[in-house]
Amino acid sequence: MNVIDRTHLAGLLDRERRTFRERNPRSAAAYEQARAHLFGGVPMTWMNKTAAGFPLYLAEARGARVTDVDGHEYVDLCLGDTGAMAGHSPQATVDAVAERFARLGGATVMMPTEDATWVGAELGRRFGLPYWSFSLTATDANRWAIRLARAITGRPKILVNSYCYHGSVDEVLLVVGPDGEQVSREGNVGAPVDPTVTSRVVEFNDLPSLERELAYGDIAAVLMEPALTNIGIVLPEPGYLDGVRELTRRHGTLLINDETHTFSAGPGGCTGAWGLEPDIVTIGKAVGGGIPSGGYGLSAEVAARIEGMSGLDLIDMGGVGGTLAGNALSVAAMRATLEHVLTDDAFAGMTELATRFTKGVQAVIDSRALPWSVTQLGARAEYRFTNPAPRDGGESNAAGDPDLDDYLHVYLANRGVLLTPFHNMALMCPATSAADVDRHHEVFAAAVSDLVG
Ligand SMILES: Cc1ncc(COP(=O)(O)O)c(C=O)c1O
Repeated sequence: MNVIDRTHLAGLLDRERRTFRERNPRSAAAYEQARAHLFGGVPMTWMNKTAAGFPLYLAEARGARVTDVDGHEYVDLCLGDTGAMAGHSPQATVDAVAERFARLGGATVMMPTEDATWVGAELGRRFGLPYWSFSLTATDANRWAIRLARAITGRPKILVNSYCYHGSVDEVLLVVGPDGEQVSREGNVGAPVDPTVTSRVVEFNDLPSLERELAYGDIAAVLMEPALTNIGIVLPEPGYLDGVRELTRRHGTLLINDETHTFSAGPGGCTGAWGLEPDIVTIGKAVGGGIPSGGYGLSAEVAARIEGMSGLDLIDMGGVGGTLAGNALSVAAMRATLEHVLTDDAFAGMTELATRFTKGVQAVIDSRALPWSVTQLGARAEYRFTNPAPRDGGESNAAGDPDLDDYLHVYLANRGVLLTPFHNMALMCPATSAADVDRHHEVFAAAVSDLVG
């Protein structure tokens, strides 16, 4: 097994960061200027998640390519951390947005459009849930789904998996600690109450712990990704998801599948690909082809239970809703993206490329006997610095190696390939080509070669 020499790694990282600074003077200058006016120097604080010390500034993006303000073109395997899984500015979505906003006019009019019905029907076909409601982000979809679940079950708590991410939702920011205790996630900003008051947490792939926690009888819903995607990719073991469904049904707890990232598994995400039967599905990011969009789908039974309750204010200030949610522009973008871009055929091609990516990365890992693994979920794949691949979030978190992450990210960026900043994740869009994937392999192999000789 090949062990990384940490001093050598530190030297390489230093070298790559110097190269990055020299290659990107306009991005460096733009960042300096922004510091006077933007909190943290960036439009959103997470944009400071950058392996190189400052972010690249965007000039143009189309399909699977991005150009920065210094004129470098990149193969974009990040794709907006799934927000651009349809590719950047896909033509059909651009046309629909122009038609709605420019020619017909109107984005926020407080009137429904017929596009929304089409989108609800299509999401129903893909995810198997008949009734849909829209948001502008996956975070909001999750927040509202949680509220509805609490309302109809009359139970106070939500259960999540350790090291999950479902957006900046108060109820999900907790983990299983080193001694098995349930604790607030490190760095949790201004939590209204300790999350253990509102939530329970267990490891993914751990049915006995799930059963133990459900037995308290206070859990309104399990909110989960069918495969974890925010701490590397952690796939469900055989029988795990069936077990989750069986246990949640037995304990009267609703099951919410968050398909925001696992949408990569196919046209209907993991729910469609694996025949899952959640009570609620939430989604966001890619579904609008880059235009802010999201939503939640309800089973007929859940919809009937909500409708059967008196005293729920779903119209005004009851805590479910957003003024701009379901707006005409957002649903026009979703319709075009689902109808013409993220089609069943497109997913087949994207998945094939992700398989090519996975095999190529595995070949490099094998050739150097590195203790790393690579995991694929449909159109996405991610490498992790441990082997075998982790079976839960805690294990995957323990295998984190920030220096190695940074080294590979900067090395690849300096040679025209972008990975997702928060992950070693590569995502394929309909415009990604085999040559793009092969370019990653060429650079990845060189980075590994510099690292281990
Ligand atoms: C599974 C999952 N759900 C929800 C979200 C929140 O998405 P957004 O920040 O677009 O609201 C994310 C973001 O990464 C996610 O990975």
